[in-house]
Amino acid sequence: MASLSTFEINEPLDMHLHLRDADMLKLVGPLTSNTFSGALIMPNLVPPITTKEALLAYKQRIKEACVKDKFEPYVTLFFKNDYSYEFLADIKDDIIGIKLYPAGITTNSETGVASMDVEVLRPTLESMSKLGIPLCIHGETNGFVMDREKEFMPIYESIAKVFPNLKIIMEHITTKEAIELLDKYDNLYATVTLHHLLITLDDVAGGMLNPHLFCKPIAKRPEDRSALLNAALKAHPKLMFGSDSAPHPKHKKECCGCAAGVFTSPIALQVLTELFEKHDALENLNAFVSLNAQRIYNLTLEKKTITLIKKDFIVPAIYEYKNENVVPMYAGESIPWSIES
Ligand code: NCD
Ligand code: DOR
Ligand code: ZN
Ligand code: ZN
Repeated sequence: MASLSTFEINEPLDMHLHLRDADMLKLVGPLTSNTFSGALIMPNLVPPITTKEALLAYKQRIKEACVKDKFEPYVTLFFKNDYSYEFLADIKDDIIGIKLYPAGITTNSETGVASMDVEVLRPTLESMSKLGIPLCIHGETNGFVMDREKEFMPIYESIAKVFPNLKIIMEHITTKEAIELLDKYDNLYATVTLHHLLITLDDVAGGMLNPHLFCKPIAKRPEDRSALLNAALKAHPKLMFGSDSAPHPKHKKECCGCAAGVFTSPIALQVLTELFEKHDALENLNAFVSLNAQRIYNLTLEKKTITLIKKDFIVPAIYEYKNENVVPMYAGESIPWSIES
């Protein structure tokens, strides 16, 4: 394809996003809503979102933080294995899905499920399957850090087999094994982040430690990244963009005991455009960043066209609001595409 100077993305969607709360929400919310049409919002607040009151109040706070933009926050509930059918039937229309975390596997997941045994999870999963509520999973075991996702594959398979009508989304996949599993079960889908399409463990810890690239699941091997990138570049129909943009304040990243999370919201569309252009795959970017998710989650969206222009964007060193701050990926660096303002 000839070198382009502009590129349009229609109704971009981020199907895995952490917006946090309070001033951090006010800081990062607009950095997504100014470019994206909507986002699937993670429920791992402190405490996590487990009631309708907490859910609707949080959705309202997000809308207020993003009030300047046409933006739909698709909120989720934090999985518990004892939600009643009546509770789920009542909350169904207010949520896009339920997010399951194994206990203690990542930020604010302490109250996640202690056992991934399908029989233990059955009460909630059965109701979700009947009601058509999608299940989003952070799929990692507590094994050796590089093997945690791979070891989770049999668990995905067990749930996919026992609940063939349940839509299961493998969140932020990082391995070639997850890509292979995607095609084995009709009811399995996945999100992939921007950073996992770009980096390997080498970028995190191969040289000087880079805490801003430390996240869960940890970035893996070059062959894993290739498998993820190939699937994204061809817009595999069961794969969606989900940034997993996960802001933590600078002092919690640049310290001993660094929090997991890469903050990519303000650069996501620009860097995706750069990546798809570099691989001559721009014709698939709208499917990867919007159409696949619209189809998988049955979304209808108002028109929102984002125009990217080939003009250097100097990524801010830090974003700040009141006492909150966050350092983005590529802080202080120049990237070749900008959002037209
Ligand atoms: C905190 C925040 O919003 O600032 N996060 C949160 O509530 N989940 C900070 C943090 O993530 O450490
Ligand atoms: O790196 C991560 N950060 N991975 C997650 O799954 C959670 C997230 C967070 O909430 O900070
Ligand atoms: Zn996760
Ligand atoms: Zn996440």
